[in-house]
Amino acid sequence: ARVVVLLSGTGSLCAALLDATDDPAYPADVVAVGADRPAAGLEHAARRGIPTFVSALGDHPDRAAWDRALAASIAAFEPDLVVSAGFMKIVGPAVLDAFGGRLINTHPALLPAFPGAHAVRDALAAGATVTGSSVHVVDAGVDTGPVLAQREVPVLPDDDEPRLHERIKAVERELLVETVARLAAPGTRGTSSP
Ligand code: GRF
Repeated sequence: ARVVVLLSGTGSLCAALLDATDDPAYPADVVAVGADRPAAGLEHAARRGIPTFVSALGDHPDRAAWDRALAASIAAFEPDLVVSAGFMKIVGPAVLDAFGGRLINTHPALLPAFPGAHAVRDALAAGATVTGSSVHVVDAGVDTGPVLAQREVPVLPDDDEPRLHERIKAVERELLVETVARLAAPGTRGTSSP
């Protein structure tokens, strides 16, 4: 299966997916990586000769134009699956119409708990003793689509946000690699499914 990854930051989750695709038996290939800014994470793809693109909100007159441009940038690579891995923008109707149902997101909490951009901080603030990682289908809401996979992560008494987030990201990497493999039609490496 052909996968396009979207990111905004360091791209450690994207890097884990790229590493997984090095295995010829893994049923997916990352065909492009996009970002909403010149994110450091794009380097993981560039270093491997995988095409990258930046679709910055500020480069467009309004959100709707950005949404359409992002949809076009993704569509150019004919993905079977689009993976938001630390992509910190809410996509709009153009992206959802084009890829809805095959656009997934990884979120560092056990949805529906702690949606939004500060899930790890919110879990700590709430005194949670267990949190985790969720992979879900993206819908028009914020972290509200159907959950595909979840895995728990313990919160330790002296955790701070960075330490807990790193522990969650270690689990996110596993869960994302497993979930993409499960969604990709096994055995169709690098081909767009019919
Ligand atoms: C991940 O925890 C993701 O769930 C959240 O931001 C983090 C991205 O990390 N939205 P990285 O950029 O893949 O290192």
